[in-house]
Amino acid sequence: MKFFIDTANLDQIREAQDLGILDGVTTNPSLMAKEGITGEENVIAHYKAICDIVDANVSAEVIATDYEGIVKEGEALAKLNPKIVVKVPMVKDGIKAIKYFSSKGIRTNCTLIFTAGQALLAAKAGASYVSPFLGRLDDIATDGYQLIEDIRTIFDNYEYPTEILAASVRGPMHVINCAKLGADVMTAPLSAILALLKHPLTDSGLAQFLADHAKAAGK
Ligand code: G3P
Repeated sequence: MKFFIDTANLDQIREAQDLGILDGVTTNPSLMAKEGITGEENVIAHYKAICDIVDANVSAEVIATDYEGIVKEGEALAKLNPKIVVKVPMVKDGIKAIKYFSSKGIRTNCTLIFTAGQALLAAKAGASYVSPFLGRLDDIATDGYQLIEDIRTIFDNYEYPTEILAASVRGPMHVINCAKLGADVMTAPLSAILALLKHPLTDSGLAQFLADHAKAAGK
């Protein structure tokens, strides 16, 4: 499974890149706003800065929701760097725009996926990725894992090349379950990725190994 980091925070992106396991970055307008990045020029500069840090693909989301606007913004974003994947919302004009981008060889990530039908439409339009939002379904007591399983079945049935990018992943169990269900990619905050490192028996075991080594060495 590919690991993407879901943030616009440059320090966290650097830390994930340094770990050597990063396959991509996803951002969205809320994550950009959280970092205080506003105004077209600053947003563009920030995407360029992210592309300079990572050796991976970077999802950059359009703001427009009409076909012409999505195409204009998406083409401008795609020109910034070959690492950019244009993130398009799941709306009618978004599907049309994904079809257009696909014909031009521009990669897309269809975001805000909450049903298997939405994922199927995006795959038919030629999206490179679909982003089902696991955590937000959890938030409303709905089974996000079932959604990922359903999309996996549909994409496998018809051999769609579209990758399932599990998004809105909030913690380590989300990551593990996405891997069990066969998501191609998951995107999570750095905290969820680092939480995978942790087990108290690892910590106590290591402390014991180091103590025994020191004792044997007469320290
Ligand atoms: O990038 C989209 C998605 O991952 C958002 O996550 O935690 O805001 O639901 P969250």
